[in-house]
Amino acid sequence: MKFSDAIEEIKNRLSIVNVISEYVKLERKGSSYVGICPFHADKNPSFSVNEPRKMYKCFACGKGGNIYTFLQEYLQITFREAVLMLAKKANIEIEDDFSSNESFKKNAEKKNKLYELYRDAANIYYKILFSDIGKAGLNYLISRKLTKETIKKFGLGFAPNDFGYIYNLMKKKGYDDTLLFESKLFRLYNGKPCDTFYNRVMFPLVDTYKHVIGFQSRTLDPKPKERKYVNSDDSLIFHKKSFLYAMNLAYFSKENYYILCEGNMDAITIHQAGFDSAVATMGTAFNEQQMFLLKRKPKKVYLCQDTDEAGVKAIISSDKILKKSGIETYVIDIKPSKDVDEYINNYGVDSFKAKLNNPIPTFLFIISTLKNKYNISDPYELEKYINEIVDRLTEISNTFVRDSYLKKIALQENLDLGILHSLLEKKLKGNKVVYNNETANQNQNISLNNNINKSKISKVDSDFIQLIYLLPEYKNHILSIVSSDELYDDIYKCLYKFYENGVSMSSIYNKIIDRDEDEKQIINTILSYNLSFDEDDKQQILNSLNQVIRKIKIRNAENDTDGSIESIYELNKKIIDINKTIYIK
Ligand code: UTP
Ligand code: MN
Repeated sequence: MKFSDAIEEIKNRLSIVNVISEYVKLERKGSSYVGICPFHADKNPSFSVNEPRKMYKCFACGKGGNIYTFLQEYLQITFREAVLMLAKKANIEIEDDFSSNESFKKNAEKKNKLYELYRDAANIYYKILFSDIGKAGLNYLISRKLTKETIKKFGLGFAPNDFGYIYNLMKKKGYDDTLLFESKLFRLYNGKPCDTFYNRVMFPLVDTYKHVIGFQSRTLDPKPKERKYVNSDDSLIFHKKSFLYAMNLAYFSKENYYILCEGNMDAITIHQAGFDSAVATMGTAFNEQQMFLLKRKPKKVYLCQDTDEAGVKAIISSDKILKKSGIETYVIDIKPSKDVDEYINNYGVDSFKAKLNNPIPTFLFIISTLKNKYNISDPYELEKYINEIVDRLTEISNTFVRDSYLKKIALQENLDLGILHSLLEKKLKGNKVVYNNETANQNQNISLNNNINKSKISKVDSDFIQLIYLLPEYKNHILSIVSSDELYDDIYKCLYKFYENGVSMSSIYNKIIDRDEDEKQIINTILSYNLSFDEDDKQQILNSLNQVIRKIKIRNAENDTDGSIESIYELNKKIIDINKTIYIK
């Protein structure tokens, strides 16, 4: 059977209850089976498996999906590996197994060769670190207070001060020049092969599947002016934008939070201090792809970036991205140190631990940084400061949270609670747009800067994609109503394009085989979101689709407004119209 056909067939042949029972103890309860959720620290049996729908769902942490997503998550394997594993169980022989797809096979072979090459190189760098020619490197790492155990855990190594040392060792291992040069660890210099990295400490970059996919290197100079760190370029197997350093360890942490910092040394020091959920962006700005990596597990994120101006900006922008996807964030303020590595080395593990036990809600942190912008002993400046605080408060949709912040701010900043309160009320009233939403949220109020809608953006788009795949016969009609520009980001646009081209949901995976594992994982997450309706009830599907399209249209209308009174009025009218429209009949 073809790989693409096998995906559905395996799902039908196997009992999801049997598959999951091999890993989780399940008990029958009514029409479904329940057990302790393997994806979070579950106390009650919140994990439920539904045989007829072939789905599982945890009602506490929200994880859900099908047999494939279960094995991917539980065993940390790829989608392809999960399908092949279950094919055996279902007695299905997969004839193509991608072997018919030559370009895939070549690609996969090359990837495997590169994984092997990087792994070998990492082992060589590691061995050198503890040899005579690695002394300078080892002394440097010891001067950074790393223990031998930590060095081993992160596989740190040393590239000796010798132009062709590693190249020669790799040649002896039998690697040919084409692959060696392709790995970019070696290059030609005046026609002579040589090592790209020399006289540098080497940090292997490891993905969550435990492949070494590249390196970061550091000079031994404590305060270098330039080229302090040099990283592997992006390649077939390494995409800097969708990588978080130390995620290979943090992913398996039992903590209910990730610690997000900037430098690899910061992440390493935090792990050494005994906190195993730290990851680092390696200096790049935190972005959406990295957010999806964090989102694979339902955890809070503690922002622990540097304390310079760029670090504070990084906190504000990462918070924005994380909040949008519904992740709660807190700040670990490590002033007066410049970064967390320095903090732990200067103030000790206990002091850092106390900070982790008392993380600052990001909103309060941002408010306190605003204070530096104004000279608040001047009453006019004070007014501007208060206005900005209250503006930011209106962005919080939960009344209880908003009120408790208001009280905290009044106390912390020594401001009059009554004045703050009436200002907030005034601003909230000014922002309010009333819209009539016929099915779900009856007569609900939304305010313009409300983040509630935005935090569900991905869910809206995922639902949209899933629903339209259930309605291939409406394709042209749907395409004429929602343009791909109206979708939230590239991944949804790409899935929409597949739908347009008639790609079935189960063969999407064949279309994305060349992408990196993390992107595949993201697409799989999108495709396995649980829908809250009965898949056999067509009218219900149509109602849900109309509702989702309305949400997309309202979101885009909101994004088009500039906040002026006229545009709010226009928006209000538009929303009323959108809510009256039945897009797909
Ligand atoms: P920092 O300059 O804050 O590094 O850059 P750091 O972690 O404090 O470095 P140490 O303590 O001096 O060793 C943060 C991160 O930005 C990336 C690296 O990943 C670094 O860890 N970076 C920095 C580069 O990629 N290239 C550079 O030249 C500098
Ligand atoms: Mn540092």
